[in-house]
Amino acid sequence: MSEFAHTACLGAGVIGASWTALFLASGRSVAVYDPQDGAADFVRRYIETAWPALVGLGLADKGTPDAVTFHQSAARAVEGAAFVQESVPERLEIKHPLYADVEPALEPDAVVASSASGLTLSELQQGWRDPARLVLGHPFNPPHLIPLVEVMGNDRTAPDAVELAEKFYKAVGKITIRVHREVPGHVANRLQAAVWREAIHLVLEGVASVGDVDKAMWAGPGLRWAAMGPTQLFHLGAGEGGIAEFCDRYADSFNRWWDDLGDPRLTPEVAATLSEGINQETGETPTAELSAQRDALIVTMQRAIGDIR
Ligand SMILES: NC(=O)c1ccc[n+]([C@@H]2O[C@H](COP(=O)([O-])OP(=O)(O)OC[C@H]3O[C@@H](n4cnc5c(N)ncnc54)[C@H](O)[C@@H]3O)[C@@H](O)[C@H]2O)c1
Repeated sequence: MSEFAHTACLGAGVIGASWTALFLASGRSVAVYDPQDGAADFVRRYIETAWPALVGLGLADKGTPDAVTFHQSAARAVEGAAFVQESVPERLEIKHPLYADVEPALEPDAVVASSASGLTLSELQQGWRDPARLVLGHPFNPPHLIPLVEVMGNDRTAPDAVELAEKFYKAVGKITIRVHREVPGHVANRLQAAVWREAIHLVLEGVASVGDVDKAMWAGPGLRWAAMGPTQLFHLGAGEGGIAEFCDRYADSFNRWWDDLGDPRLTPEVAATLSEGINQETGETPTAELSAQRDALIVTMQRAIGDIR
């Protein structure tokens, strides 16, 4: 292992445990810090469960689950780590004191990436004396299965830190995008939010059931979107003229649909309607079984995509 051979994960809940499994699979050692009682057991179980999928994806050829260590302090965990992934709860009053603890213990050229979904990079930077080595490295749950990581630096970030983070993520099998400007939700969560807003609107307006709106997604555009992004797909939707021809042909349709899209809010009543709809769809099936089904489908699709790309 040449680069980033030793890593650290700070916070090992849903996201941190998944990162740990992925980094181990890639042949790296991982030092974990999480003050929660039973955190080590949780992480070991998570790794054991995640490992077959990582093997199936061809991401575990070099790794061993045994290269994980657990530490009593964050400062000890980051010692000697070339890459540190922070995945503690989404609260500045937790993230800032953690940064203050680790900053003096970091290797001078280590990169620290925060998994933060909602907090902005400039809010995170306020917890540092010098935030030059901090980047945003926002994954999609579960990070060991979903390739996307949104990476961001700004004018207070060292010029090489974003590039090193991208290099690291690529080395562990991820696909990165760069976020150039701070907006709530970065890029991919905003896309999800836009689609889910309309999905809910269609249900509330009685256009289709929760189950049928979900089906319209996974059996329709969702399948195409797993292959290519929306703009490239539409580039293929109007013959040789490409996206310019597509826009010309369908501008009126899209503008009309956009004018008609809904703007619901997630009130308790709306949540109850969604729960009822989901109960009708999934009945008594435990969420663990549904999650296993989801993961198996994702692994199969990823393998197929990997064979072509
Ligand atoms: N859950 C998601 O879908 C998702 C997706 C992408 C990014 N994220 C982001 O990842 C981060 C973690 O989210 P999560 O869902 O894993 O939360 P989580 O609550 O499951 O896990 C957080 C872990 O951090 C530990 N922790 C608390 N204080 C700590 C400290 N001072 N030092 C070290 N560990 C500490 C907790 O014990 C817990 O195990 C958040 O910033 C969140 O926004 C979450």
